[in-house]
Amino acid sequence: MVSVLLVLKDKCLGARVNRNKAHSKVVDVTTFGAKGDGVADDTKAFLRAWEAACNKDSATLHIPVDHRFLVGPLTFSGPCKSNIVFQVDGSIIVQVNPKAWTSKLVEWINFEILNGITIAGKGTLDGQGAVWWKISKLQDEVNDSRYSGSSLLSVRPTALRFYKSYDVSVQGITIQNSPKCHLKFDFCTSVKVVGVTISSPADSPNTDGIHLQDSRDVEIHHSSMACGDDCVSIQTGSSGIRIHNINCGPGHGVSIGALGEDGTKACVSNVSIYDIKIHDASNGGRIKTWQGGSGRLKSVSFSNIKVSNVRVPINIDQFYCHDKPCSNHTSAVFISDITYEKVTGTYLDTPVNLACSDDVPCTHLKFKGIELQPADRDEKSPFCWNSYGEQQSGAGCLKTGTPPNDPSLGHSPKDAC
Ligand SMILES: *[C@@H]1O[C@H](CO)[C@@H](O)[C@H](O)[C@H]1NC(C)=O
Ligand SMILES: *[C@@H]1O[C@H](CO)[C@@H](O)[C@H](O)[C@H]1NC(C)=O
Ligand SMILES: *[C@@H]1O[C@H](CO)[C@@H](O)[C@H](O)[C@H]1NC(C)=O
Repeated sequence: MVSVLLVLKDKCLGARVNRNKAHSKVVDVTTFGAKGDGVADDTKAFLRAWEAACNKDSATLHIPVDHRFLVGPLTFSGPCKSNIVFQVDGSIIVQVNPKAWTSKLVEWINFEILNGITIAGKGTLDGQGAVWWKISKLQDEVNDSRYSGSSLLSVRPTALRFYKSYDVSVQGITIQNSPKCHLKFDFCTSVKVVGVTISSPADSPNTDGIHLQDSRDVEIHHSSMACGDDCVSIQTGSSGIRIHNINCGPGHGVSIGALGEDGTKACVSNVSIYDIKIHDASNGGRIKTWQGGSGRLKSVSFSNIKVSNVRVPINIDQFYCHDKPCSNHTSAVFISDITYEKVTGTYLDTPVNLACSDDVPCTHLKFKGIELQPADRDEKSPFCWNSYGEQQSGAGCLKTGTPPNDPSLGHSPKDAC
Protein backbone atom coordinates (compact mmCIF):
# COMPACT_ATOMS: atom_id res chain seq x y z
CA MET A 1 0.00 0.00 0.00
CA VAL A 2 2.71 2.40 1.00
CA SER A 3 4.70 1.61 -2.06
CA VAL A 4 1.64 2.15 -4.32
CA LEU A 5 1.10 5.56 -2.77
CA LEU A 6 4.73 6.38 -3.25
CA VAL A 7 4.52 5.40 -6.89
CA LEU A 8 1.40 7.57 -7.36
CA LYS A 9 3.07 10.44 -5.59
CA ASP A 10 6.12 10.04 -7.80
CA LYS A 11 3.92 10.06 -10.89
CA CYS A 12 2.19 13.27 -9.84
CA LEU A 13 5.45 14.92 -8.96
CA GLY A 14 6.89 13.73 -12.22
CA ALA A 15 4.04 15.32 -14.13
CA ARG A 16 4.41 18.57 -12.26
CA VAL A 17 8.16 18.62 -12.76
CA ASN A 18 7.68 18.10 -16.47
CA ARG A 19 5.08 20.84 -16.72
CA ASN A 20 7.30 23.25 -14.83
CA LYS A 21 10.21 22.29 -17.00
CA ALA A 22 8.25 23.06 -20.17
CA HIS A 23 7.03 26.34 -18.73
CA SER A 24 10.42 27.37 -17.41
CA LYS A 25 11.85 27.29 -20.91
CA VAL A 26 10.48 30.81 -21.38
CA VAL A 27 12.73 33.32 -19.67
CA ASP A 28 10.98 36.69 -19.48
CA VAL A 29 13.31 39.65 -19.01
CA THR A 30 10.78 41.32 -16.70
CA THR A 31 11.12 38.49 -14.18
CA PHE A 32 14.83 39.36 -14.00
CA GLY A 33 14.12 42.94 -13.04
CA ALA A 34 13.83 44.61 -16.43
CA LYS A 35 11.35 47.50 -16.19
CA GLY A 36 10.70 48.24 -19.84
CA ASP A 37 9.51 51.75 -19.05
CA GLY A 38 11.96 53.51 -21.37
CA VAL A 39 13.59 55.23 -18.39
CA ALA A 40 15.25 52.63 -16.17
CA ASP A 41 18.42 51.01 -17.51
CA ASP A 42 17.66 47.34 -18.12
CA THR A 43 21.15 46.26 -19.24
CA LYS A 44 21.92 44.16 -16.14
CA ALA A 45 18.51 42.51 -16.14
CA PHE A 46 19.04 41.46 -19.77
CA LEU A 47 22.40 39.93 -18.87
CA ARG A 48 20.90 37.99 -15.92
CA ALA A 49 18.08 36.74 -18.15
CA TRP A 50 20.61 35.66 -20.78
CA GLU A 51 22.61 33.71 -18.24
CA ALA A 52 19.49 31.86 -17.14
CA ALA A 53 18.41 31.14 -20.73
CA CYS A 54 21.89 30.03 -21.74
CA ASN A 55 21.91 27.39 -19.00
CA LYS A 56 18.57 25.86 -19.98
CA ASP A 57 17.62 23.43 -22.67
CA SER A 58 16.06 25.14 -25.71
CA ALA A 59 15.14 28.33 -23.88
CA THR A 60 13.21 31.30 -25.23
CA LEU A 61 14.32 34.64 -23.88
CA HIS A 62 11.24 36.82 -24.12
CA ILE A 63 11.17 40.60 -24.58
CA PRO A 64 7.46 41.26 -24.05
CA VAL A 65 5.26 43.53 -26.14
CA ASP A 66 4.12 46.99 -24.94
CA HIS A 67 7.43 47.66 -23.22
CA ARG A 68 10.40 49.85 -24.10
CA PHE A 69 13.61 48.40 -22.72
CA LEU A 70 16.49 50.84 -22.45
CA VAL A 71 19.82 49.02 -22.67
CA GLY A 72 23.47 49.94 -23.17
CA PRO A 73 26.04 47.77 -24.94
CA LEU A 74 25.30 44.07 -24.41
CA THR A 75 27.28 40.96 -25.28
CA PHE A 76 25.43 37.67 -25.16
CA SER A 77 28.11 34.98 -25.22
CA GLY A 78 27.93 31.26 -25.72
CA PRO A 79 28.39 28.47 -25.86
CA CYS A 80 24.97 27.78 -24.36
CA LYS A 81 23.36 24.53 -23.35
CA SER A 82 21.32 24.43 -26.57
CA ASN A 83 19.63 26.59 -29.20
CA ILE A 84 18.19 29.86 -27.94
CA VAL A 85 15.27 31.89 -29.25
CA PHE A 86 15.54 35.59 -28.49
CA GLN A 87 11.92 36.64 -28.93
CA VAL A 88 11.60 40.39 -29.41
CA ASP A 89 7.97 41.50 -29.21
CA GLY A 90 8.52 44.83 -27.46
CA SER A 91 11.04 47.59 -28.23
CA ILE A 92 14.69 47.68 -27.26
CA ILE A 93 16.20 51.15 -27.25
CA VAL A 94 19.84 52.07 -27.02
CA GLN A 95 21.07 53.87 -23.91
CA VAL A 96 22.68 57.07 -25.18
CA ASN A 97 24.02 58.14 -21.79
CA PRO A 98 27.78 58.43 -22.52
CA LYS A 99 28.52 56.71 -19.19
CA ALA A 100 27.31 53.48 -20.79
CA TRP A 101 29.84 53.91 -23.60
CA THR A 102 33.12 54.47 -21.84
CA SER A 103 35.08 51.75 -23.59
CA LYS A 104 35.59 51.58 -27.31
CA LEU A 105 32.63 49.34 -27.97
CA VAL A 106 31.82 48.87 -31.61
CA GLU A 107 28.59 46.94 -31.18
CA TRP A 108 25.42 47.66 -29.33
CA ILE A 109 23.92 44.15 -29.15
CA ASN A 110 26.44 41.43 -29.82
CA PHE A 111 25.79 37.67 -29.94
CA GLU A 112 28.89 35.49 -30.05
CA ILE A 113 30.10 31.90 -30.07
CA LEU A 114 26.66 30.34 -30.36
CA ASN A 115 25.48 27.19 -32.01
CA GLY A 116 21.81 27.80 -32.87
CA ILE A 117 20.47 31.27 -32.19
CA THR A 118 17.19 32.71 -33.47
CA ILE A 119 16.10 36.32 -33.13
CA ALA A 120 12.38 36.45 -33.86
CA GLY A 121 9.32 38.59 -33.24
CA LYS A 122 7.56 41.73 -34.40
CA GLY A 123 9.49 44.04 -32.09
CA THR A 124 12.00 46.79 -32.80
CA LEU A 125 15.62 47.56 -32.06
CA ASP A 126 16.07 51.32 -32.06
CA GLY A 127 19.65 52.60 -32.26
CA GLN A 128 18.78 56.30 -31.67
CA GLY A 129 21.15 57.05 -34.52
CA ALA A 130 20.40 60.77 -34.68
CA VAL A 131 22.51 61.30 -31.54
CA TRP A 132 25.57 59.74 -33.22
CA TRP A 133 24.97 61.10 -36.73
CA LYS A 134 24.86 64.61 -35.36
CA ILE A 135 28.15 64.05 -33.53
CA SER A 136 29.67 62.46 -36.61
CA LYS A 137 28.65 65.39 -38.78
CA LEU A 138 29.64 68.06 -36.31
CA GLN A 139 32.56 66.21 -34.80
CA ASP A 140 34.88 69.19 -35.02
CA GLU A 141 32.36 71.69 -33.82
CA VAL A 142 30.73 69.76 -31.02
CA ASN A 143 32.03 70.82 -27.66
CA ASP A 144 29.48 69.34 -25.37
CA SER A 145 30.81 68.29 -21.97
CA ARG A 146 28.28 65.45 -21.87
CA TYR A 147 30.32 63.73 -24.58
CA SER A 148 33.84 64.54 -23.49
CA GLY A 149 35.99 61.45 -22.97
CA SER A 150 33.17 59.28 -24.20
CA SER A 151 33.35 56.91 -27.10
CA LEU A 152 30.01 58.29 -28.16
CA LEU A 153 32.26 60.79 -29.84
CA SER A 154 34.61 58.41 -31.58
CA VAL A 155 32.77 55.10 -32.00
CA ARG A 156 29.49 54.61 -33.72
CA PRO A 157 28.33 51.07 -32.94
CA THR A 158 26.69 48.48 -35.15
CA ALA A 159 23.18 47.83 -33.81
CA LEU A 160 23.02 44.02 -33.96
CA ARG A 161 26.01 41.80 -34.61
CA PHE A 162 26.73 38.07 -34.66
CA TYR A 163 30.25 36.76 -34.26
CA LYS A 164 31.64 33.24 -34.69
CA SER A 165 28.25 31.59 -34.61
CA TYR A 166 26.64 28.73 -36.46
CA ASP A 167 23.00 28.33 -37.45
CA VAL A 168 21.87 31.93 -36.96
CA SER A 169 18.41 33.13 -37.88
CA VAL A 170 16.98 36.64 -37.74
CA GLN A 171 13.25 36.83 -38.48
CA GLY A 172 10.56 39.48 -38.51
CA ILE A 173 12.13 42.21 -36.41
CA THR A 174 12.67 45.86 -37.32
CA ILE A 175 16.06 47.49 -36.80
CA GLN A 176 15.91 51.23 -37.10
CA ASN A 177 18.16 54.25 -36.86
CA SER A 178 21.37 52.41 -36.15
CA PRO A 179 24.34 54.64 -35.32
CA LYS A 180 26.27 52.74 -38.03
CA CYS A 181 25.66 49.32 -39.63
CA HIS A 182 22.28 47.80 -38.71
CA LEU A 183 22.95 44.06 -38.84
CA LYS A 184 26.34 42.42 -39.16
CA PHE A 185 27.66 38.88 -39.40
CA ASP A 186 31.35 38.13 -38.79
CA PHE A 187 32.72 34.59 -39.08
CA CYS A 188 29.26 33.02 -39.12
CA THR A 189 28.09 29.94 -40.99
CA SER A 190 24.56 28.95 -41.94
CA VAL A 191 22.75 32.27 -41.59
CA LYS A 192 19.15 33.10 -42.48
CA VAL A 193 17.57 36.55 -42.50
CA VAL A 194 13.87 36.72 -43.40
CA GLY A 195 11.09 39.26 -43.01
CA VAL A 196 13.41 41.86 -41.51
CA THR A 197 12.84 45.60 -41.90
CA ILE A 198 15.77 48.00 -41.76
CA SER A 199 14.97 51.67 -41.64
CA SER A 200 17.12 54.81 -41.45
CA PRO A 201 17.12 58.10 -43.34
CA ALA A 202 18.85 58.33 -46.73
CA ASP A 203 21.34 60.88 -45.38
CA SER A 204 22.41 58.92 -42.28
CA PRO A 205 26.18 58.33 -42.57
CA ASN A 206 27.59 54.77 -43.11
CA THR A 207 24.40 53.07 -42.05
CA ASP A 208 24.78 49.80 -44.00
CA GLY A 209 21.71 47.59 -43.85
CA ILE A 210 23.32 44.15 -43.63
CA HIS A 211 27.06 43.56 -43.62
CA LEU A 212 28.58 40.12 -44.25
CA GLN A 213 32.21 39.39 -43.49
CA ASP A 214 33.94 36.00 -43.41
CA SER A 215 30.53 34.36 -43.46
CA ARG A 216 29.36 31.37 -45.45
CA ASP A 217 26.07 29.82 -46.45
CA VAL A 218 23.91 32.90 -45.99
CA GLU A 219 20.37 33.49 -47.25
CA ILE A 220 18.73 36.90 -46.96
CA HIS A 221 15.22 37.20 -48.34
CA HIS A 222 11.79 38.83 -48.17
CA SER A 223 13.17 41.82 -46.31
CA SER A 224 13.29 45.54 -46.85
CA MET A 225 16.07 48.03 -46.31
CA ALA A 226 16.10 51.80 -46.33
CA CYS A 227 19.34 53.35 -45.13
CA GLY A 228 22.16 55.77 -45.89
CA ASP A 229 24.65 53.23 -47.24
CA ASP A 230 24.69 49.78 -48.87
CA CYS A 231 21.47 47.82 -48.36
CA VAL A 232 23.61 44.70 -48.28
CA SER A 233 27.39 44.77 -48.22
CA ILE A 234 29.37 41.59 -48.88
CA GLN A 235 32.97 41.60 -47.72
CA THR A 236 35.98 39.32 -47.91
CA GLY A 237 35.75 35.70 -46.79
CA SER A 238 32.12 35.40 -47.85
CA SER A 239 30.79 32.60 -50.06
CA GLY A 240 27.59 30.69 -50.67
CA ILE A 241 25.47 33.84 -50.43
CA ARG A 242 21.87 34.04 -51.69
CA ILE A 243 19.94 37.30 -51.57
CA HIS A 244 16.46 37.51 -53.05
CA ASN A 245 13.09 39.24 -52.79
CA ILE A 246 14.57 42.34 -51.25
CA ASN A 247 13.32 45.90 -51.43
CA CYS A 248 16.24 48.30 -51.25
CA GLY A 249 15.98 52.09 -51.13
CA PRO A 250 16.87 54.66 -50.38
CA GLY A 251 20.44 53.46 -50.04
CA HIS A 252 23.54 52.58 -52.03
CA GLY A 253 22.26 49.33 -53.55
CA VAL A 254 23.60 45.80 -53.08
CA SER A 255 27.40 45.85 -53.00
CA ILE A 256 30.30 43.48 -52.97
CA GLY A 257 33.32 45.20 -51.43
CA ALA A 258 35.08 47.41 -51.19
CA LEU A 259 37.63 44.58 -51.40
CA GLY A 260 41.41 44.73 -51.16
CA GLU A 261 41.84 47.79 -48.96
CA ASP A 262 45.44 48.58 -47.92
CA GLY A 263 46.88 45.87 -50.15
CA THR A 264 44.89 43.06 -48.53
CA LYS A 265 43.88 39.84 -50.21
CA ALA A 266 40.17 39.33 -50.70
CA CYS A 267 38.26 36.15 -51.53
CA VAL A 268 34.56 36.16 -52.32
CA SER A 269 32.70 33.61 -54.44
CA ASN A 270 29.36 32.00 -55.20
CA VAL A 271 27.04 34.95 -54.69
CA SER A 272 23.56 34.90 -56.15
CA ILE A 273 21.39 38.02 -56.04
CA TYR A 274 17.98 37.82 -57.69
CA ASP A 275 14.43 39.19 -57.68
CA ILE A 276 15.45 42.51 -56.15
CA LYS A 277 13.86 45.96 -56.32
CA ILE A 278 16.14 48.94 -55.88
CA HIS A 279 14.87 52.51 -55.89
CA ASP A 280 16.30 55.96 -55.16
CA ALA A 281 19.77 54.58 -54.72
CA SER A 282 23.26 55.56 -55.82
CA ASN A 283 23.94 52.07 -57.21
CA GLY A 284 22.11 48.90 -58.17
CA GLY A 285 24.35 45.84 -58.25
CA ARG A 286 27.84 47.12 -57.47
CA ILE A 287 31.31 45.62 -57.14
CA LYS A 288 34.06 47.82 -55.74
CA THR A 289 37.73 47.11 -55.11
CA TRP A 290 40.64 49.25 -53.99
CA GLN A 291 43.77 49.41 -56.12
CA GLY A 292 46.68 47.39 -54.76
CA GLY A 293 44.69 44.47 -53.39
CA SER A 294 44.91 40.83 -54.45
CA GLY A 295 42.77 37.71 -54.39
CA ARG A 296 39.69 36.91 -56.36
CA LEU A 297 36.01 37.63 -56.75
CA LYS A 298 34.21 35.03 -58.84
CA SER A 299 30.89 33.38 -59.58
CA VAL A 300 28.50 36.23 -58.90
CA SER A 301 25.14 36.73 -60.53
CA PHE A 302 22.71 39.61 -60.38
CA SER A 303 19.45 38.64 -62.04
CA ASN A 304 15.99 40.12 -62.31
CA ILE A 305 16.98 43.41 -60.74
CA LYS A 306 14.36 46.15 -61.12
CA VAL A 307 15.74 49.64 -60.61
CA SER A 308 14.10 53.01 -60.45
CA ASN A 309 15.90 56.33 -60.06
CA VAL A 310 19.23 54.61 -59.51
CA ARG A 311 22.31 56.65 -60.38
CA VAL A 312 24.39 53.72 -61.72
CA PRO A 313 22.45 50.44 -61.86
CA ILE A 314 25.41 48.28 -62.99
CA ASN A 315 28.76 49.27 -61.56
CA ILE A 316 32.13 47.53 -61.32
CA ASP A 317 34.68 49.96 -59.93
CA GLN A 318 38.25 48.76 -59.43
CA PHE A 319 39.44 52.28 -58.68
CA TYR A 320 37.41 52.66 -55.52
CA CYS A 321 38.79 55.35 -53.27
CA HIS A 322 37.10 56.81 -50.24
CA ASP A 323 38.10 59.15 -47.44
CA LYS A 324 41.84 58.96 -48.12
CA PRO A 325 44.36 59.63 -50.87
CA CYS A 326 44.73 56.69 -53.25
CA SER A 327 47.76 56.03 -55.45
CA ASN A 328 47.90 53.91 -58.59
CA HIS A 329 48.93 50.26 -58.23
CA THR A 330 49.35 47.43 -60.68
CA SER A 331 47.88 44.70 -58.52
CA ALA A 332 44.13 44.27 -58.05
CA VAL A 333 41.54 41.76 -56.94
CA PHE A 334 40.88 39.60 -60.00
CA ILE A 335 37.22 39.72 -61.00
CA SER A 336 35.74 36.99 -63.19
CA ASP A 337 32.56 35.11 -63.96
CA ILE A 338 30.10 37.88 -63.13
CA THR A 339 26.62 37.80 -64.67
CA TYR A 340 24.16 40.67 -64.98
CA GLU A 341 20.90 39.37 -66.34
CA LYS A 342 17.55 41.09 -66.74
CA VAL A 343 18.46 44.38 -65.11
CA THR A 344 15.62 46.73 -66.03
CA GLY A 345 14.26 50.17 -65.15
CA THR A 346 15.54 53.73 -64.91
CA TYR A 347 18.93 55.31 -64.19
CA LEU A 348 19.93 58.83 -63.24
CA ASP A 349 23.64 59.10 -64.25
CA THR A 350 24.68 56.19 -66.44
CA PRO A 351 23.31 52.69 -67.05
CA VAL A 352 26.55 50.70 -66.95
CA ASN A 353 29.96 51.61 -65.57
CA LEU A 354 32.64 48.93 -65.81
CA ALA A 355 36.02 50.30 -64.71
CA CYS A 356 38.26 47.26 -64.47
CA SER A 357 41.91 47.33 -63.49
CA ASP A 358 44.48 48.28 -66.14
CA ASP A 359 46.70 45.31 -65.28
CA VAL A 360 44.14 42.75 -64.12
CA PRO A 361 41.19 42.89 -66.56
CA CYS A 362 37.77 41.54 -65.62
CA THR A 363 37.01 38.37 -67.53
CA HIS A 364 34.09 36.07 -68.27
CA LEU A 365 31.52 38.76 -67.65
CA LYS A 366 28.08 37.98 -69.01
CA PHE A 367 25.39 40.54 -69.88
CA LYS A 368 21.92 39.52 -70.90
CA GLY A 369 18.67 41.46 -71.13
CA ILE A 370 19.92 44.78 -69.80
CA GLU A 371 17.10 47.27 -70.51
CA LEU A 372 17.79 50.59 -68.81
CA GLN A 373 16.29 53.99 -69.62
CA PRO A 374 17.28 57.40 -68.32
CA ALA A 375 14.89 58.66 -65.62
CA ASP A 376 14.94 62.33 -66.50
CA ARG A 377 17.65 63.20 -69.01
CA ASP A 378 19.25 62.24 -72.29
CA GLU A 379 20.37 58.72 -72.81
CA LYS A 380 23.96 57.91 -71.75
CA SER A 381 26.10 55.20 -73.32
CA PRO A 382 27.42 52.39 -71.17
CA PHE A 383 31.07 52.71 -70.18
CA CYS A 384 33.42 49.69 -70.28
CA TRP A 385 37.12 49.62 -69.49
CA ASN A 386 39.18 46.42 -69.67
CA SER A 387 36.11 44.25 -69.29
CA TYR A 388 35.79 41.05 -71.30
CA GLY A 389 33.04 38.56 -71.80
CA GLU A 390 29.87 37.82 -73.61
CA GLN A 391 26.87 39.97 -74.34
CA GLN A 392 23.74 38.13 -75.32
CA SER A 393 21.09 40.85 -75.61
CA GLY A 394 20.34 44.38 -74.44
CA ALA A 395 22.80 47.13 -73.53
CA GLY A 396 26.49 46.69 -72.70
CA CYS A 397 29.94 47.32 -74.11
CA LEU A 398 32.01 44.25 -73.22
CA LYS A 399 34.97 43.22 -75.34
CA THR A 400 34.39 39.71 -76.57
CA GLY A 401 36.68 36.84 -75.74
CA THR A 402 39.52 36.96 -73.27
CA PRO A 403 42.26 39.58 -72.88
CA PRO A 404 45.84 39.00 -74.08
CA ASN A 405 46.97 39.34 -70.46
CA ASP A 406 44.30 36.95 -69.17
CA PRO A 407 44.81 36.87 -65.39
CA SER A 408 43.34 33.36 -65.16
CA LEU A 409 46.33 32.04 -67.12
CA GLY A 410 49.64 33.07 -65.55
CA HIS A 411 47.93 33.30 -62.21
CA SER A 412 50.15 34.30 -59.32
CA PRO A 413 49.92 32.18 -56.18
CA LYS A 414 49.23 35.20 -54.00
CA ASP A 415 45.92 35.58 -55.80
CA ALA A 416 44.80 32.02 -55.14
CA CYS A 417 41.84 31.81 -52.80
C1 LIG B 1 35.39 73.78 -25.60
O1 LIG B 1 35.27 73.64 -24.22
C2 LIG B 1 36.45 73.96 -23.49
C3 LIG B 1 36.25 73.61 -22.02
O2 LIG B 1 34.95 73.89 -21.61
C4 LIG B 1 36.78 75.44 -23.71
O3 LIG B 1 37.97 75.79 -23.02
C5 LIG B 1 36.96 75.67 -25.20
O4 LIG B 1 37.17 77.04 -25.46
C6 LIG B 1 35.73 75.19 -25.99
N1 LIG B 1 36.00 75.26 -27.43
C7 LIG B 1 35.13 75.77 -28.30
C8 LIG B 1 35.57 75.74 -29.73
O5 LIG B 1 34.04 76.21 -27.99
C1 LIG C 1 26.96 27.95 -53.73
O1 LIG C 1 26.21 28.35 -52.62
C2 LIG C 1 25.03 27.60 -52.41
C3 LIG C 1 24.32 28.23 -51.22
O2 LIG C 1 23.93 29.53 -51.54
C4 LIG C 1 25.38 26.15 -52.16
O3 LIG C 1 24.20 25.39 -52.02
C5 LIG C 1 26.19 25.61 -53.34
O4 LIG C 1 26.61 24.31 -53.08
C6 LIG C 1 27.40 26.51 -53.58
N1 LIG C 1 28.08 26.09 -54.81
C7 LIG C 1 29.39 25.89 -54.89
C8 LIG C 1 29.92 25.50 -56.21
O5 LIG C 1 30.12 26.01 -53.91
C1 LIG D 1 46.61 57.18 -61.87
O1 LIG D 1 46.25 56.75 -63.15
C2 LIG D 1 45.28 57.57 -63.78
C3 LIG D 1 44.85 56.90 -65.07
O2 LIG D 1 45.95 56.38 -65.79
C4 LIG D 1 45.85 58.97 -63.98
O3 LIG D 1 44.90 59.80 -64.59
C5 LIG D 1 46.23 59.51 -62.62
O4 LIG D 1 46.86 60.77 -62.77
C6 LIG D 1 47.18 58.56 -61.86
N1 LIG D 1 47.34 59.04 -60.50
C7 LIG D 1 48.52 59.12 -59.91
C8 LIG D 1 48.49 59.60 -58.49
O5 LIG D 1 49.56 58.80 -60.45
